[in-house]
Amino acid sequence: MSQSHTIPRLERRGAVWQLMVDDQPFWARAGELNNSSASSRAFMSEVWPKLVRARLNTVLAVISWDMFEPEEGRYDFSNIDELIEDARANHIKLVPLWFGTWKNGASHYVPYWVKADQQRFALTRTLMGNIDTISPLNEAAKAADAKAFAALMGHIREVDEKERTVIMVQVENEVGVLGDARDRSEAAERVFNAKAPRELTDYLTGNHARLLPETLEAWQGAGGRTDGTWRETFGRFADEAFSAWHYARFVDAVAAAGKAEYPLPMFVNAWLPNYRNPLFPGEYPSGGPNAHMQDIWRAGAPNIDFLSPDIYSTNFGEILSKYNRAGNPLFIPEARPELEGAANAALAASMGAFGYSPFGIESRIADYDNGPITQVYKLIEEIEPELFKHQAEGTIAGAIVEQGHLEERFVLGGYEIVIGLVQDRNTPAYLAEKGYAIVMSTGPDSFTIAGLGVQVTFAPPVPSGDVIGIGTAEEGRFDDGAWTPGRRLNGDEIVLHRNFGKRSLEGQTGTGLRFLKAEPEIQRVRLYSFKR
Ligand code: DGJ
Repeated sequence: MSQSHTIPRLERRGAVWQLMVDDQPFWARAGELNNSSASSRAFMSEVWPKLVRARLNTVLAVISWDMFEPEEGRYDFSNIDELIEDARANHIKLVPLWFGTWKNGASHYVPYWVKADQQRFALTRTLMGNIDTISPLNEAAKAADAKAFAALMGHIREVDEKERTVIMVQVENEVGVLGDARDRSEAAERVFNAKAPRELTDYLTGNHARLLPETLEAWQGAGGRTDGTWRETFGRFADEAFSAWHYARFVDAVAAAGKAEYPLPMFVNAWLPNYRNPLFPGEYPSGGPNAHMQDIWRAGAPNIDFLSPDIYSTNFGEILSKYNRAGNPLFIPEARPELEGAANAALAASMGAFGYSPFGIESRIADYDNGPITQVYKLIEEIEPELFKHQAEGTIAGAIVEQGHLEERFVLGGYEIVIGLVQDRNTPAYLAEKGYAIVMSTGPDSFTIAGLGVQVTFAPPVPSGDVIGIGTAEEGRFDDGAWTPGRRLNGDEIVLHRNFGKRSLEGQTGTGLRFLKAEPEIQRVRLYSFKR
């Protein structure tokens, strides 16, 4: 049977965007390499086997402008060719990260001929002087970067359109100004003091009903003007908005040139502000695709298919939900590894993401064969058909629980579902450090739950006098989408509390599901109810 290799694309399927590879939804069990690893094939020869052992199906790897175009107009395809060949040989998909004009704000990855010519490729000027960040207003850099990126994408098409090893591309990396909120060079000052561009204010006016609350706060909060200077239009957000717009326009031009050669899905990633202790723009890269700049990015960069967060902080779900708005496809290119990462990956899947990618995958995993990331990737692979279906139907939810956050509740499939950190029934000590659950509502009164270290109880969504009990429960596994039951679970395996009377006041029978094994497991349950 010949396999179809249509171009990878994002497709809206019900409630979510899924990444389609070979016309099938694809969940990117990804990892991002450390910055310098992919520059050496010899170095990578030790890395590929680890990625395979960890069950990755996708790797995010740097392609730097510096190595790609060592002299203006002369391209060196060896790095991308080797990566594609080796990824293919290991049955892993490749997501090149185009470290072009910017990487984490700075312009460290531009070729020497760009670094050395600051007349042509003007730097950003902060209040303290020039920094080695090319100005996002610089047209020469935009044109040169776009030309190089187009050459890269054209080459990828040539060598990969039959196989489709490359499935999407990140354009630049964590852009934004560090050390100030915007470029203050003379050229930039002139633009900043002129009117905010019509294209932007038209977008804001035309999409008013869909704007995010942060955009409304910045724009309407300053008076909602459509004919003012940047300061008049965006008030105290003006400097950051100015940067966001110019980065977005620059990155869009690069992406457009690349897509004209080969239109793979393209995305940008954000170095996030610390949402708990907010910093000033410039303490994090100012003008990057942050949650409160998303509408400006959408207006300025229509060739970018999605904005993605690099989430290293512990409030993973809270941050991800900021990117799960306004129809933004969900993917996390950089995040934590190990147990915390595994819990994040499961939560991301339950929130509709099509992939997750711990950073530094080749050096930050203690056990590539059966560590937490490998385990969660095996789990996700096993439940994939169910996962895609329930993501599309919107009949899925998830939670992470741990010391300090022992319980989470949500309503799904007509029940209140309580996810707790798994406990000893008698003492009641906690039996896991952290737990995660993916809950899928599979039919009336029925759920499939995949998880680790949790206990799951069920109650009516609002107190009604109904008490919810476990009708039947079983563990099992999916083999190619078909359910093979294991033990029928009852008795000690489902009794969580014996104070039945008190529990019934909460609509519960004291029973629930327990995920006690050292590895993630899957259980199915059918509930019944009676009147208290
Ligand atoms: C975020 C950057 O995008 C990555 O390239 C890398 O430098 C990590 N930070 C390091 O934690």
